Amino acid sequence: LSEPTLAGRRVLITAGGTREPLDPVRFLGNRSSGRQGVALAQAARDAGAQVTLIATHLEVPAPHGVALVHASSALELREAVFAHAEGQDALIMNAAVADFRPASIEGSKIKKRDEHSAPVIELVRNPDILAEVVSARGANDRLPPVVVGFAAETGDEQGTVLDYGKAKLARKGCELLVVNEVGANLTFGTDSNTIQVLFADGKPAVSAAGSKIEVARVVIEQLAAEINGHTA
Ligand code: C5P
Repeated sequence: LSEPTLAGRRVLITAGGTREPLDPVRFLGNRSSGRQGVALAQAARDAGAQVTLIATHLEVPAPHGVALVHASSALELREAVFAHAEGQDALIMNAAVADFRPASIEGSKIKKRDEHSAPVIELVRNPDILAEVVSARGANDRLPPVVVGFAAETGDEQGTVLDYGKAKLARKGCELLVVNEVGANLTFGTDSNTIQVLFADGKPAVSAAGSKIEVARVVIEQLAAEINGHTA
């Protein structure tokens, strides 16, 4: 038997979707089930890595044999990522992070004030955690040398999913970007996925389709090659 590809490596993975609180009982959320992130954690574990999974909100159980950390909102996720990122060989940002959060969190439940009126919710931008980790590496060489982003894209008249993926990879500055095509019934909450792995170093994209665990194994294989290349 050959040595597992990620033996002795440490991999930090974020999964699920964030919840941005509005008041003590309500939040803004998204449709990420966490299935792909959990599959990535399993695949990395099976490849021999020591895995830390930062779970936001998952609809599926976390896998055995990984260290589990919880975070709910984007701001909590950012704290957790920075608290665990040092000393990792790779960070996989699979979580669906809300781009916006309510500008303020009400201390008590927002009430219906009268028969007809409704509140207007003001939103503010969340930090881009992935981009922050990438830029923080400049001043901290303990941060992961390999950062993997995920992008749910749709093609349109202006460009294909691949065009948008390439632009995002360049913008985010990460080493790998896993692009999947999303649409009404594609990807979210389903058990299969069709992806393309794009590389910042110009290697040709690798595509994969299948169950989320099959796709995860392809991503982890590409990640292992990248990590081993970085430390060779
Ligand atoms: O720009 P977009 O949201 O499509 O980028 C998606 C990638 O960036 C994912 O890897 C996601 O985990 C990460 N992200 C982040 N912080 C945000 C938004 C997205 O780290 N606020």
